[in-house]
Amino acid sequence: MKTRITELFGIEHPIIQGGMHYVGFAEMASAVSNAGGLGIITGLTQGTPEKLAAEIARCQQMTDKPFGVNMTFLPSVTPPDYPGLMQTIIDSGIKVVETAGNNPAEWLPMLKEADIKVIHKCTSVRHSLKAQQIGCDAVSVDGFECGGHPGEDDVTNYILLPRAADELDIPFVASGGQADARSLVASLALGAEGMNMGTRFIATKEAPVHGNVKQALVAASELDTRLVMRSLRNTERVLMNPGVERLIEKEKALGDALKFEDIVEEVAGIYPKIMVDGEMDAGAWSCGMVAGLIYDIPSVDELISRIMSEADAIINDRLRGFAA
Ligand SMILES: Cc1cc2nc3c(=O)[nH]c(=O)nc-3n(C[C@H](O)[C@H](O)[C@H](O)COP(=O)(O)O)c2cc1C
Repeated sequence: MKTRITELFGIEHPIIQGGMHYVGFAEMASAVSNAGGLGIITGLTQGTPEKLAAEIARCQQMTDKPFGVNMTFLPSVTPPDYPGLMQTIIDSGIKVVETAGNNPAEWLPMLKEADIKVIHKCTSVRHSLKAQQIGCDAVSVDGFECGGHPGEDDVTNYILLPRAADELDIPFVASGGQADARSLVASLALGAEGMNMGTRFIATKEAPVHGNVKQALVAASELDTRLVMRSLRNTERVLMNPGVERLIEKEKALGDALKFEDIVEEVAGIYPKIMVDGEMDAGAWSCGMVAGLIYDIPSVDELISRIMSEADAIINDRLRGFAA
């Protein structure tokens, strides 16, 4: 399948693995790239330029296909060394960066100078247009279904994707709620030129996370995610568990008076507990509604091959049949 996204990134299939904290290690990114998609290492999980350089080098040992690095810009009292991390990306010869969390304008000149393609993840049409205006090469349009931070507009992909198609000139991928061939073909029909998956890639053999996480995704239904931290305007879609229940109780009790300090126990330092130790009750970790569409734990190559062959069948048999 050839789209503006496969052409832009030099990949075989229009499938991207979005940056994921404590998941987007070299094992995950290289597996996706080796299967013909675009794998992405999560820069902030590494945290320092030295560690990120080592992780990129490890991934380069594991694949000779293109892969990218995610840079998430979060408000923080002690921000990570963003200039150092960006310089590391450039010095390592990376050719794709996925930005998220905030306007990446400040970083575009140095990335463009290094001939790096930038795909910015946005949750609204206005932010997508901004990304286009500042010179991003593509956007990842992240609907309300998505795991992680859906923004505050609550527009689902059935509206958001065609709206993006109506406004944007640069290519975009559909992100949020994407799981299988049906997602891919529907996204293409709505105007996207590929899809970005987060949650679905965690339930694969190669995802370097505790087996409990993969089992939890297979067990979860589409009813099992919750939105937290809305009153802090930092809404996150997470998988329900006792830690999240506690968080929601605090949100109910404190209302708009809630401060980040009140929920530190349920939201800070949770990722290693979940992803490394498999303590599934620990607290808030990002998970999409798409968990309801996850029934198995295939290898990444099986997953991507299945998506591409079933997409072909949907387009050439099912849809063509309707057209006739
Ligand atoms: C466990 C997890 C961690 C994530 N961490 C990040 C992150 O650090 N930076 C980022 O830009 N997006 C992050 N995301 C969002 C994904 O890149 C992707 O946009 C999202 O998962 C798409 O929705 P889906 O889960 O429905 O596929 C994360 C998602 C998950 C599930």
